Amino acid sequence: MTAARELLAVAVVGHVDHGKSTLIGRLLNDTGALPAARVAAIKAMSASRGMPFEWAFATDAFQAERDQGVTIDAAEIRFRSEHRDFTIIDAPGHREFIKNMVTGAARADAAVLVIDGGAGVQRETRRHAYLLQLLGLEQVCVVVNKMDSLSFKQDAFETVRQSIVAYLASIGINPSFVLPACARDGDQIVEPGERMPWYDGPTLLEALANFRAAGRPERLPLRLPIQDIYKFDQRRIIAGRIESGSLRVGDELLFSPSNKAAQVKSIETWPTSPGIDIASAGQSVGLTLGDDLFLERGEIASHHATPPIETDVFRARVFWLGNDSLVEGGTYLLKLATTATTVVVQSIEEVVDTETLERRSEKGVDRHNAAELILRSKRVLALDEARDIPRTGRFALVHDHRIVGGGTVSMEGYADQRPSRTRRATNVTRVEHRVSTEERSQRAGHHGGVVWLTGLSGAGKSTLALELERKLFERGAQVYVLDGDNIRHGLNADLGFSPEERSENIRRIGEVAALFARAGFIAISAFISPYRSDRDRARAAAGEIPFHEIFVRADLAICEERDPKGLYKKARSGEITDFTGIGAPYEEPEAAELTIDTATNDVSHCVDDLVDYVSCNFALHK
Ligand code: ADX
Repeated sequence: MTAARELLAVAVVGHVDHGKSTLIGRLLNDTGALPAARVAAIKAMSASRGMPFEWAFATDAFQAERDQGVTIDAAEIRFRSEHRDFTIIDAPGHREFIKNMVTGAARADAAVLVIDGGAGVQRETRRHAYLLQLLGLEQVCVVVNKMDSLSFKQDAFETVRQSIVAYLASIGINPSFVLPACARDGDQIVEPGERMPWYDGPTLLEALANFRAAGRPERLPLRLPIQDIYKFDQRRIIAGRIESGSLRVGDELLFSPSNKAAQVKSIETWPTSPGIDIASAGQSVGLTLGDDLFLERGEIASHHATPPIETDVFRARVFWLGNDSLVEGGTYLLKLATTATTVVVQSIEEVVDTETLERRSEKGVDRHNAAELILRSKRVLALDEARDIPRTGRFALVHDHRIVGGGTVSMEGYADQRPSRTRRATNVTRVEHRVSTEERSQRAGHHGGVVWLTGLSGAGKSTLALELERKLFERGAQVYVLDGDNIRHGLNADLGFSPEERSENIRRIGEVAALFARAGFIAISAFISPYRSDRDRARAAAGEIPFHEIFVRADLAICEERDPKGLYKKARSGEITDFTGIGAPYEEPEAAELTIDTATNDVSHCVDDLVDYVSCNFALHK
């Protein structure tokens, strides 16, 4: 028995008229992958249209099979070299390419970028190249095709070569090969041909043989997105395709984002075959579980030790295809693995012109441009960073049932919310206090509650909080300020400023503030608290106790000018890398109960407003 041959998936991309189909047809023919009957059929088809033999019809024939409903697998375009097998992902346009890459219909290891030598590097060539980079395809071979139209001249090839290499370099792609070819006649496809003696590099087939199969997905952590749940007699079968990693009967699986867990009782495969004990990336499986959990399509199964990220906000690098511009506040359907959920564009951080690579800060993204966005979903999502696990880190954006964009997930600046959603304590039971909230309010002469100040560093949170505390105290209130800089000396001295640590900082303060409030105090918190999700959780921690979110507003420029602690200066000089507003995000409140503008009002005015607000809302009458 021979060792299993490696399979390499190659995406062929490029301008529509630059000869992709001809190149594929020729590659298939010259590697012996086209049966004689198919060649005869192409001949007949070409003749009937009064054309010379047209290799592009080879891929049309595959397309026809697909159109007739033959499964994609059966119509997969395959060919082989001496040592390995190849499958071609023919991507007629950006939309199909994104769909393939995102739905996992195809997983490309490498790409061939086809350029018509006569036409040179065109807009569409650049867009395709940009998309390759965005989706993380780093192994690229450029074919400068139709060299016949350049009389097979070396200097003409050089001009095109230099132009594409310069563009690719500027987006961080270093092509493994740039080769001249005439696909129609077969020069430099499988055989060198005789018309370009000046070229001594590999043929296309030799170049492809040099690529490695990209990261072995079975070695990555387990990701099994649930596609469907079937009910057979008493059993529930969880069905899906394993996108990465592997699983065994007996493994304890964690389902995210519901965070339910159960043991794998059996693995069924299709078509019906005897049960198996282990399954890995690429296989479609049906699982039965030890516990009959209620699960839904979209959940991702993993092992406990290597779970996906849970978040309702993330940074997205997107390639935009919509006819209408993408705008801040726009809502789209996000499709990631088997999840489909609505997301809103919270902000457009940067727009990249894929033609000139110019980066601009704009409020809209036009078709065929790329952008870095912050996307927010209503529900918590399970996902991964694309650079770690590509299949659960890529997504498509859909509007009116059409794919309008595609991209990748990055969590830069944002925290995995899993820790704050996880409870480890078990066997704990609440006790009831014997002093009621009303009794406490009566004695204090006001309600207990949380006054949650949020805003940039230097916006004035601490100043206002301390003044407010003094004034309320003088009026007889039970009041206490929880201040970021103070608490970080004690309770939260173990926390730094990474997204996760800030999130934990706010989780703890949310709980502490709620405890003070339950004790009958007016708890004033003064923390940047940059993330909406964390502030929402602090509100949830207060439960039935009043919680007032107060946005202490001052522009970044003003805070930077004030720079009371000299920290903005340090941040600008690079001494502090994750300073809020500069190297780390601040998400303004969407619906704060009160906004205090410290840029246009002096301190005493702001404090008076706050005192009035609190007196009124906490029934403080003294
Ligand atoms: S939060 O982001 O986690 O809510 P917090 O309010 O506790 O921040 O602490 C903010 C204070 O820490 C700032 O006022 C500033 O004095 C100090 N600080 C130190 N490093 C940073 C940083 N990287 N970003 C923001 N504030 C910082």
